Amino acid sequence: MHMFIPIDQSFNESLTGNFPVLQFIGSGSFATVFTSHGGACVFKVVRDPKNAGIIANEYMVLLNIHRTCDINSFFKLPQPYVFYNPTTGALDASRHLFSAKTFRLLGITNASYAMDRLFALPLTLGHSIRHLYYPDSFKRANLPTLCRLYFGKVIDVGLTPHNQEARPVHSFNTMDVPLDTARYTVLDAIHCLPDLHEVIAGMGDMLARIHWLGNCDARNIEWVMSGDGYGDEVSYSVIDFEQTKQWGKTLEGVDMLVTAFMTNEPYYPRPRPQDPQYQIFKTAYPTDQAALDVALAFLTTIEHEQAQRDAEPTYGSMR
Ligand SMILES: Nc1ncnc2c1ncn2[C@@H]1O[C@H](COP(=O)(O)OP(=O)(O)OP(=O)(O)O)[C@@H](O)[C@H]1O
Ligand SMILES: [Mg+2]
Repeated sequence: MHMFIPIDQSFNESLTGNFPVLQFIGSGSFATVFTSHGGACVFKVVRDPKNAGIIANEYMVLLNIHRTCDINSFFKLPQPYVFYNPTTGALDASRHLFSAKTFRLLGITNASYAMDRLFALPLTLGHSIRHLYYPDSFKRANLPTLCRLYFGKVIDVGLTPHNQEARPVHSFNTMDVPLDTARYTVLDAIHCLPDLHEVIAGMGDMLARIHWLGNCDARNIEWVMSGDGYGDEVSYSVIDFEQTKQWGKTLEGVDMLVTAFMTNEPYYPRPRPQDPQYQIFKTAYPTDQAALDVALAFLTTIEHEQAQRDAEPTYGSMR
């Protein structure tokens, strides 16, 4: 028989695997993500009950973005199904997969919502990632769950897979392993992944959808590669929308998009007009909207911001 432990009494225990029903699968500063009984949904549970309103808003934003942007797109969005706040009893279901009673039985005592699960990376790919990209002191750690697609960053500056320890490594998160374009290309050569250019084009296409169809500034969203949950295929998704804001789709709103883009710089090819990867990204970011001048202002301003950063002597960690 299962024993149910409320999350507020055992949040830390859940992180160490003692939680009897919910399984921990990831966390950030805002929320913790669990799955139950190996199901196809995860529950994103807010850490601080005071942020219940923010996670309720994230659920609504994701609902809207999923409905408007996730149609034949390369990058997918997890569909949100049910939001529940046990403190107020507020329940919203886009699909009636879980009742308030289920949330209570699962021991979820903070506001949360259920959404599609991103499944773990395929086994063979996971072994390659661990072999090639885990620091030596973590080679016996779990296989990776997801990879963050850091296509605006160079991770292995001056390092080969075998001298990783040249850089002191104190912690390593197997649930969100970073991949830059070089790492991605190596893995593609071994595992026949979708071509890097296809992924970058998918990013540009989805960012434009989020901006223009979702009416969302895309602040602090995460671009990740996961498994498809069936076999050896991978799948590409965007997650983590609680910091996003609506923007007005006008020239006055462009600054919001630019700030959000530049603070999320590890993910996107750096907006340098001569960079072929940025060219692919930019071409895929459609500018044939009614508000062509606004879309072009966004692209021109991020290129300008990048040029200014490149001119700063301290801007050394990025390409
Ligand atoms: N739908 C999902 N399926 C599987 N794993 C997920 C899903 N959503 C999130 N995760 C995992 O949980 C982690 C935490 O989720 P998320 O990034 O949304 O939390 P957060 O607290 O909002 O993060 P941050 O502090 O970056 O804002 C993710 O990095 C990922 O590893
Ligand atoms: Mg977040």
